[in-house]
Amino acid sequence: AEPLKIGLLGAGNVGSQVARTLVEERELISSRVGAPIKLIGVAVRDVEAPRDWKIPGELLTTDAEALVDESDLIIELMGGLEPAGALVERALRAGTAVVTGNKALLAVQGGALSQAATESGALLRFEAAVGGAIPILRPIQESLSGDRITKVMGIVNGTTNYILDQMDSTGAAFYDALAEAQRLGYAEADPTADVEGHDAAAKAAILGALAFHAPFTIDDVYCEGITAVTSADIEAAAASGYVIKLLAIVEKNDDGAILRVHPTLLPRTHPLASVRGAFNAVFVVAENAGELMFYGQGAGGLPTSSAIMGDVVSVARRLHGGPDRPGAAGTDGDAQRVRGLPVDD
Ligand code: HSE
Repeated sequence: AEPLKIGLLGAGNVGSQVARTLVEERELISSRVGAPIKLIGVAVRDVEAPRDWKIPGELLTTDAEALVDESDLIIELMGGLEPAGALVERALRAGTAVVTGNKALLAVQGGALSQAATESGALLRFEAAVGGAIPILRPIQESLSGDRITKVMGIVNGTTNYILDQMDSTGAAFYDALAEAQRLGYAEADPTADVEGHDAAAKAAILGALAFHAPFTIDDVYCEGITAVTSADIEAAAASGYVIKLLAIVEKNDDGAILRVHPTLLPRTHPLASVRGAFNAVFVVAENAGELMFYGQGAGGLPTSSAIMGDVVSVARRLHGGPDRPGAAGTDGDAQRVRGLPVDD
């Protein structure tokens, strides 16, 4: 069969890991899809820029529009509103599937893009946009779709959690901890988005929209970052058994819902208090399910690429009619290799 043609837009921390997986693990991903896939191009601003994984030169292009038009599936990891928004819209209007991790874009245009996808019948997935590697959006959209979610509360920005944790545990200074978070690949290109809470606010808007089936945008989120949090605040909190965490909280109230991001005092015994470093965690409360908690690496190239690849496999299975069910046997024989057990086809 003709391979499914995948075009990648952007090759930063996450994009270069996704490119590596698509090239080095092509066989594995194809077997998980149940049909061959092929990375046909990677659109970048600067083909010479140094990258975490060296992308084969013949894949690199600066013509993103042409790549969109040639692809069956677009992975958008450019970040920011434009040109990412126009390219995603171009793909969706043409009926081309899109997988994106662009929380800033979704928090502003998520409703319009979903609408465009519905109109053309294109698939649109964005699990990586909130909580990095953590499966959180699909559980909200699918697993809990027969319940009523009342509250979602979480640590959804790895950079600020890393900074607050370093200040708390080692007494590090704010800017030293931020520089380290940038070096580790957690921070946004402009780390103002992290420390001022805008990145968490974008994620709160996405969580609120999916949890409450309403067209919330980042403008609906009250937002306060961590730039005013001092070492003295953190010490005072510690002395009384508390830790300061930047939380995103979306909850139903009598008027509809309230969405907010701000530094919060949590007792050290609270489950979210033990979330260290760049890890994220999200609490979900639903009427029938009760309390659920999701935990994992919320930032960084590799963890985020895992969520992107999960969406890619899921979308590709639908496009190519492969086995669209979890644990479909007989596709790559992992179970046999790992445990020497017979596979029941
Ligand atoms: N800058 C973001 C963070 C990356 O620190 O969590 C993941 O969205």
